[in-house]
Amino acid sequence: LKGILFISIYIAFFHLLGINTMKVKGKHFSSIWVDELDKSLINIIDQRKLPFEFKILQLRTIKDYFDAIKDMAVRGAPLIGVTAGFAIYVAALESQNSADWTRYIVDMANYIKSARPTAVNLEWAVNDQLNLIESSGNPSEYIELLYHNACKLRENDIEINRQIGINGVVLIENLNKYLKRTVNILTHCNAGWLATVDYGTALSPIFEANARGIDVHVWVDETRPRNQGAKLTAWELENEGIKHTVIPDNTGGHLMQNGIVDIVIVGTDRTSINGDVANKIGTYLKALAAYDNNIPFYVAAPSSSIDFSIDTSKSKIPIEQRDQREVRYVDGLLEGQLVEILTVPEESPCANYAFDVTPSRLVTGLITEMGICSSKKEGISNLFPNRV
Ligand code: MRU
Repeated sequence: LKGILFISIYIAFFHLLGINTMKVKGKHFSSIWVDELDKSLINIIDQRKLPFEFKILQLRTIKDYFDAIKDMAVRGAPLIGVTAGFAIYVAALESQNSADWTRYIVDMANYIKSARPTAVNLEWAVNDQLNLIESSGNPSEYIELLYHNACKLRENDIEINRQIGINGVVLIENLNKYLKRTVNILTHCNAGWLATVDYGTALSPIFEANARGIDVHVWVDETRPRNQGAKLTAWELENEGIKHTVIPDNTGGHLMQNGIVDIVIVGTDRTSINGDVANKIGTYLKALAAYDNNIPFYVAAPSSSIDFSIDTSKSKIPIEQRDQREVRYVDGLLEGQLVEILTVPEESPCANYAFDVTPSRLVTGLITEMGICSSKKEGISNLFPNRV
């Protein structure tokens, strides 16, 4: 009951401020939340089934967390980070049955980190939790400390993404004033609220523009092989009543040449401090096309996705390679049933690089929670002087 009351107050508060919260068929949801009855249980929306099935999964054991991240029931760099934060809290709960409980937590931290290598948010959140353990002495204290810190990571993510929306909407607003017509925005993969706890990164300025009554239309790259654009971004935009069109991944260049893309906004899994951007495979090609056609190319980058420890991407950003099966098969709805179909000759080998790196020279700017900056070291250090 307390939980329901809290959520209602939260929604009412944001409505009073005129700020939109993300909805599923009119009801507010975030992508991850603590169970109202048992705080050792964490609820997530199973993103593998969307948009065809809306299913909530409960994570209980450290293996549940590993599988959810690895198999992409939760995905998107910020959400992977927050989920990993809760995983370390659960590791601490499980560690009570272990002879060497600190060893257990460290081993589980490495296990969780190995689930997906590219999004820096994962190791960042795990390390943030591990740092707490070094500074205190009592095992039962750790559990509360880790729980509260995981909740804090979750809440911070909401606020950071809301702020990215407020900072980024200025770009859309200015284009709308200048062009005096619908602003056409192209986005890749899913960097909406499902990829974070709420609001999203690349989609946050778009949601904010919609809330302010600015006329926008979104070109949604379908984003093979997992189709996060076609399945998740399109679903989010539909839920918010925002005009959008799903396009095959190869269409963006043609649209840009023909003047029907005004701005590209994408997310990031890891941005180095010289502004090289690792994001979903195919982002680099969009950046090249945008550059060739003089179209602004922005990256929505929460500080949790900036890797302040690497000054250049060159061979330092690990690029995840996933199972060939994701390329080989496509899934979708057939006569009401979720089915998978083979689309490749059975004997042909497939490659599944999950991310690519867009060099900073192709990136017009970064939209962060602290403001918009150039995708250069100076730009990033102006906004984050204590971290660069
Ligand atoms: O493989 P995914 O679905 O986790 O990849 C998601 C992306 O590439 C997003 O663009 C990125 O995580 C930024 S999310 C706000």
